[in-house]
Amino acid sequence: MHSSKKITIAVDGFSSCGKSTLAKALAKELGYTFIDSGAMYRGIALYCLRNELIADGFLDEAGIGVALNSIELSFHSVDKENQALLLNGEDVEQEIRSPKVAAIVSKIATLPAVRKKLVDEQRKMGQNGGIVMDGRDIGSVVFPNAELKLFITADPDVRAQRRYDELQSKGIKSTLEEVKKNLLERDHIDSTRTISPLIQTDDAVVIDNSNLNREEQLKLALEYAKERMN
Ligand code: CDP
Repeated sequence: MHSSKKITIAVDGFSSCGKSTLAKALAKELGYTFIDSGAMYRGIALYCLRNELIADGFLDEAGIGVALNSIELSFHSVDKENQALLLNGEDVEQEIRSPKVAAIVSKIATLPAVRKKLVDEQRKMGQNGGIVMDGRDIGSVVFPNAELKLFITADPDVRAQRRYDELQSKGIKSTLEEVKKNLLERDHIDSTRTISPLIQTDDAVVIDNSNLNREEQLKLALEYAKERMN
């Protein structure tokens, strides 16, 4: 499907609700750029873990502020379908999905300096439109003028099972209980933080995908996108 107007599509929602899957499929279908903003927060969290800027849940906020100047994040295409996050040139795609990173990323994402750096970079990536970005604050903060804002939700048990299956398929060890506990904890931190909390904006279209498969979800989102392109 092609259109002369390259719009911006923001996809927000709770943890593990299939935002990235939908955003990636939408971008592929439209020939747009896909950006997984959560991967960027995960990349910073990984850097903090490796450099002992977080220990026993304690954040070295001043140290992280300084470290941000030494962190360069980018994406590279692995194949037609997939991209990987590069942290200072190193492919860390597998490592950023680990339970260790999942356990601290939302705390790191509450820090103003972290959010400022990433929001600035994300806005640059989207300055020419033709982008589908998924995250928590994309429609509310990063691209408040996005032509289409999707807010994705699903039942927590469905989300936990999907993420557990995904981790299993990638060979990352975890239990269903651990996964569910982590995603509920992240939802809580993400929704209650002071800066750019996860909210459903008034102009967002809500998609509850508890009972939708990938194709059905994509079809629905594409209909909204077509509408907004005209
Ligand atoms: O894939 P999943 O939904 O589990 O999470 P993610 O998109 O990889 O994001 C990981 C974490 O980064 C979230 O739980 C948020 O704490 C944070 N994040 C954020 O604060 N703002 C964004 N735009 C994207 C992610």
